[in-house]
Amino acid sequence: MPRKLFVTTALPYANGPFHIGHIMEYIQADTWVRLQRMLGHEVHFVCADDAHGAPIMIAAEKAGLTPQQFVAGIAAGRKPYLDGFHIAFDNWHSTDAPENHELARAIYTALRKNELIDVRQVEQFFDPAKGMFLPDRFIKGECPKCGAKDQYGDNCEVCGAVYAPTDLKDPYSALSGAKPVLRSSEHYFFKLSDPRCVAFLEDWTQDGRLQPEVANKVREWFARDDTGRVGLGDWDISRDAPYFGIEIPDAPGKYFYVWLDAPVGYLASLKNLLGKLGIDYEAYMADPALEQVHFIGKDIVTFHTLFWPAMLKFSGRKVPDRVYVHGHLTVSGEKMSKSRGTGISPLRYLELGLDAEWLRYYIAAKLNARVEDLDFNPEDFVARVNADLVGKYINIASRAAGFLSKRFGGHLSADLGVEGRVLLDALRAHGGAVRDFYEEREFGKALREVMLLADRVNEYVDRHKPWELARQDGMEAALHDVCSVCIEAFRILSIYLKPVLPALAARVEAFLQLPPLQWADAQRALGHHRIGEYKHLMQRVDPKLMQALFEPAVTEAAPEADLPTLPGGEAIAEEIAITDFAKIDLRIARIVSAARVEGSTKLLRLLLDAGEAAPRQVFSGIASAYTPEQLVGKLTVLVANLAPRKMKFGVSQGMVLAASHADDKAEPGIYLLEPWPGAQPGMRVR
Ligand code: 2FM
Ligand code: ZN
Repeated sequence: MPRKLFVTTALPYANGPFHIGHIMEYIQADTWVRLQRMLGHEVHFVCADDAHGAPIMIAAEKAGLTPQQFVAGIAAGRKPYLDGFHIAFDNWHSTDAPENHELARAIYTALRKNELIDVRQVEQFFDPAKGMFLPDRFIKGECPKCGAKDQYGDNCEVCGAVYAPTDLKDPYSALSGAKPVLRSSEHYFFKLSDPRCVAFLEDWTQDGRLQPEVANKVREWFARDDTGRVGLGDWDISRDAPYFGIEIPDAPGKYFYVWLDAPVGYLASLKNLLGKLGIDYEAYMADPALEQVHFIGKDIVTFHTLFWPAMLKFSGRKVPDRVYVHGHLTVSGEKMSKSRGTGISPLRYLELGLDAEWLRYYIAAKLNARVEDLDFNPEDFVARVNADLVGKYINIASRAAGFLSKRFGGHLSADLGVEGRVLLDALRAHGGAVRDFYEEREFGKALREVMLLADRVNEYVDRHKPWELARQDGMEAALHDVCSVCIEAFRILSIYLKPVLPALAARVEAFLQLPPLQWADAQRALGHHRIGEYKHLMQRVDPKLMQALFEPAVTEAAPEADLPTLPGGEAIAEEIAITDFAKIDLRIARIVSAARVEGSTKLLRLLLDAGEAAPRQVFSGIASAYTPEQLVGKLTVLVANLAPRKMKFGVSQGMVLAASHADDKAEPGIYLLEPWPGAQPGMRVR
């Protein structure tokens, strides 16, 4: 019976590009989904941007954009990552889409009807300058415990203390710098402490659907105190305007807290997809056979094992069947920051020409079903890809294919010899175990199994030495059998690896002249089949590329001969978010005057009109390229919010932008930037 699966990954905040942690989760889910598809099951695999919330609203404002424009900009950049790493979502949507507004409001309305919504007064910090309540992360002050300055409202980064924003000494708003005041307002609560919710969750979280360590963790939240009260508190689901989110029905000026509508986005994305496919959403969800599966990281377990199932249950909907929790990704043992990610930029990985499937293989090889962190270690990465993937598996095909095409017109032998048939039977016999490991998300075990099988095939090759058979008279049939066994074995192993290596599998299918391989194909024999010309299927990793991956920019040393050519002599700098870029205030400025600087051959003293009350003085190292006369009256671009710098000759109040090659000896020249006609002093460059 084919299964019917609705699978999601966590919806990423639309406040920055993907980092390697997102890609890891997508690779895990995508691999699992690909297995299901190869088994003939029906899967709808969706994701979306998590668009709402105060941080996104604030970032958009800083960037001079509406939240909708800001989010659209982030969403527009998603495709190269997903395509690049072969992540085959069926749909990418947004939590700000109409389906989500509708579904979130419907779920809320049903909860209210069920008497699970409460309204209470809540006291919170309010920024009088900004006219808004401040989220914890936007309140800063002195740590109440260690006295460290400029600590966030939820915890201290110096001593690790956890506290409420109201505990901070000398609190200030990180948005305006103003002193926040306590103000009370009405908040809406989801009554998670209602006995109906507690009873449901105690069962739902402990009935075996969660990983044991997750179920145990969750059980702690149910612990009752001496009075018999459950530790489960009600959940504050509203935020006051201004807020980028979904308005709460019948509550003007109140919005759903982003975490209320975020998981609803799973359903919204599915509904949007089914609409495009002409499938009725309600009927699809009503099918008792449907399995709803969420892949998430360990930091968002509460939302997915308490709030989300309870919201669904008490609004009369289907509850999740599985929540698969993974650990975090560390890089060489170092923890990743949630907003900035790690030292590895996924896009840089692709731009350097590193094969996406090396990463898929490496991550899969290290994944298991437990909530363990996974470490990306460059040396380990090179070793596993080169020694296992290429050395053991790819090698099987490259050792046999040449003889088959040169000596036998690409035709396989159907006999294969006793030893060959025994070997292939053994490979087939392990298919069930490999499949089960994938199903259980024990990808590391699945790949270990496949590599053990590859070892057996290589031992067979070493025993039969086709390169020697090829030189001996009368060994034609033996050579044909051995090489055919290799190709048959390679095909079976390719099936077992296909969930992890889909693009490679497509190249293998082309080489073997076969339609897309399904899981069951491993049990069949090719017989008298004719394969195509062998073309190189996969490169080894050049360890130098690993170095380039971790070096954000090569500026000093001249690149070595066999490093990839770097644009302008230096690698593209580490990826930044639009919010990082927005911090740089670039303005059009007119060069009012320019003069040489006594005692310096490099500098010119410029006076710049950037539309301000007074011109600014900027020292610029462009004397080798321009005479003062050439510059006066010209427009250029000024970094207007650079901290003033005291120099021997005076204070430099900013910097003008110019292009140059990293190696000024290789390519001398400095080129000042000049805007197109029409730009006016003071205009912002964005
Ligand atoms: O933690 C996060 O990145 C959230 N944006 C995840 C949301 S998952 C789902 F609930 F939408
Ligand atoms: Zn502290």
